[in-house]
Amino acid sequence: MASAASVKSPVSIRPGKLLIDNRFVDAASGKTFETINPATEEVLTVVAEGDKADVDKAVAAARRAFDGGAWSEMRARDRGRFLYKVAELIDAHRDELAVLESLDNGKPISETSAVDVPQAAEVFAYYAGWADKVLGETIPASPNFFTYTLREPHGVCGQIIPWNFPLLMASWKLAPALACGNTCVLKPAEQTPLTALRLGELMIEAGLPIGVVNIVTGFGPTAGAALAEHRGVDKIAFTGSTEVGRIIQRAAAINIKSVSLELGGKSPNIVFADADIEAAVKGAMAGIFFNQGEVCCAGSRLFVEEPVHDQFVEALSAHAKTIRVGDPLDPATQMGAQVSEEQFSKILGFIDDGKKSGAKLVTGGSRAREKGYFLQPTVFDAVRNDMRIAREEIFGPVVSTLTFKSVEEAIRLGNDSDYGLAAAVWTRDITKAHRAARALRAGTVWVNTYNAFDTAMPFGGYKESGIGRELGAQALQLYTQTKAVWVAL
Ligand code: NAI
Ligand code: MG
Repeated sequence: MASAASVKSPVSIRPGKLLIDNRFVDAASGKTFETINPATEEVLTVVAEGDKADVDKAVAAARRAFDGGAWSEMRARDRGRFLYKVAELIDAHRDELAVLESLDNGKPISETSAVDVPQAAEVFAYYAGWADKVLGETIPASPNFFTYTLREPHGVCGQIIPWNFPLLMASWKLAPALACGNTCVLKPAEQTPLTALRLGELMIEAGLPIGVVNIVTGFGPTAGAALAEHRGVDKIAFTGSTEVGRIIQRAAAINIKSVSLELGGKSPNIVFADADIEAAVKGAMAGIFFNQGEVCCAGSRLFVEEPVHDQFVEALSAHAKTIRVGDPLDPATQMGAQVSEEQFSKILGFIDDGKKSGAKLVTGGSRAREKGYFLQPTVFDAVRNDMRIAREEIFGPVVSTLTFKSVEEAIRLGNDSDYGLAAAVWTRDITKAHRAARALRAGTVWVNTYNAFDTAMPFGGYKESGIGRELGAQALQLYTQTKAVWVAL
C-alpha cells in the first residue's frame, strides 16, 4: 500500500476485498495478495485472497438470491433498467476506471479510455435492451396440446476471467447473465482484480439486489478451481488459456454444469498479393501489437503471398519500429507493459525459441525499458508452420511471418492449428474473400480488417479455442436453458 503514493495517478487505490451479499469482506483465512503495477514493478495495493471457504459463501449468497426470486422473477424490464444504470455509472466514472485499468494491467491509457471502459459500458447498455426480449416460442406440435417453450436462467453462474481486458471481460460475463435472470459469482484474474471490484461498488450504487453479484478475488488453482467444481454452481463461463479450459471442463463434469469457454488462439492473418498492401500492413500491426499482443484473437501467424512478401515485411518492420512503447499513463503511448513478470519472461522465452529454431528476427526481440515489463514490437520472418512460435500462443507483441503460393496453400496452412478463434484475409477479389471466409475454421473471419469488434456480433472459437459464443444475441443462449411446456387441450 505504501508505494501507491509514488504512482502518479488521480485515483485512490484502497485494499481490495471480496464482495459477498453486497458487503466487502476479508477472506475467511485473512490472507491477502499483492497486485502489481507492471509498468513500475511496484505494489499497487493488497487484495483479499479468497479460497474455497469464500467461494462456498459467495455461491450460497448467489443461491439465496436466485432462489429468493427477487432477481429472476423481477420484471425483466426492471432488470434491464438496472443494467442500464450500471452502464451509465461506468460512463460517469470512465476516467477513473481507465486509469485504474492502466495501472493494474499496464495497457496504455489511450486504449483503456477509448476501448476497455466505453466498451464495458456499452455491453451493459446493450444487454439492458435484451432483458425483456428473451423470448420463448409457441410450437404447433399437435392440435390436442398447447405447446410452448420458456427460456429460463440457469441459476448460479460461476464466471472466471483473465487479465488482458479485466473490466471488459467482467462486463461480457456479467451483463448477459444478469439480463437473463441469473445470479453470479465472478472470479477476476489475480493479476488485475481492481476494476472488477470497482465495478462491484458501482453495481451496488446502481441498486444491486443483495447477493445477485458476488466477486471472489484470488488464485486459479484455489478460488477458481473451487468455483468450477462447486455443486451449487449451475453454469460455468471461463475465458483464459486452453490448458485451464480443459481443467474447467473436467471439473464441470461433477454436476454436469453448462460450460462456455473462450480460450486461446493462433489466428492466421492472410495477405494475398492483390490486397491493398498499405491497409494490410496497418491491419497486421493492429492485429498483433494492439494491447501489447495480449489478445486471444491476435493475428499472430501472418501469411504473406510470395510476390509481395519482401515489400510487406519491410513495411511492417519499419512501422513496428515507430510504435511508442512507454508509460501507460502517457496519452501518447501506443504500447504499454506486459501484464506480469511471468508473461514477460514467457514471451522472451518464445523469442529465444524462435531464433534457435531458425526463424529470422527482423525487428525487436528485447526488453524495451530498464524497469517495467516492456517489450519491443517484434517481427519474425521465415517462420515455418511447424515451429513452436507458429503453433503456441505467445500472447505478446510477437508476429510470426510465413509465406505461401496459392489460395489453397494459405487456407490449408491457416487451418493447420489446434486453435480456431479468428482469421483474416486481405484481398480485392470478393470471390476469393468469401470463399476463404467459408473455408477458414474460425469463430470470426475478418475481410480487409482486423480486430473489428461489436457488442452485437457473436465472438467465440472453433476447435480448441472454445465452446459457445459471447456477445450479441448468442450470449443469451449461454445464459438460458429451454423448458418445453405441454398443456393438454
Ligand atoms: P489462465 O488460464 O491460467 O488464467 C485465466 C483465469 O483462470 C484466471 O482468473 C486464473 O486465476 C484462472 N485459473 C487458473 N487456473 C485455474 C484453475 N485450475 N481452475 C480455475 N481457474 C483457474 O491464464 P494465465 O496463466 O494467466 O496466462 C497463461 C496463458 O494463457 C497466456 O500466456 C495466454 O497464452 C493464455 N491466456 C489467454 C487468454 C484469452 O483471452 N484467451 C487470457 C489470458 C491468458
Ligand atoms: Mg495461470
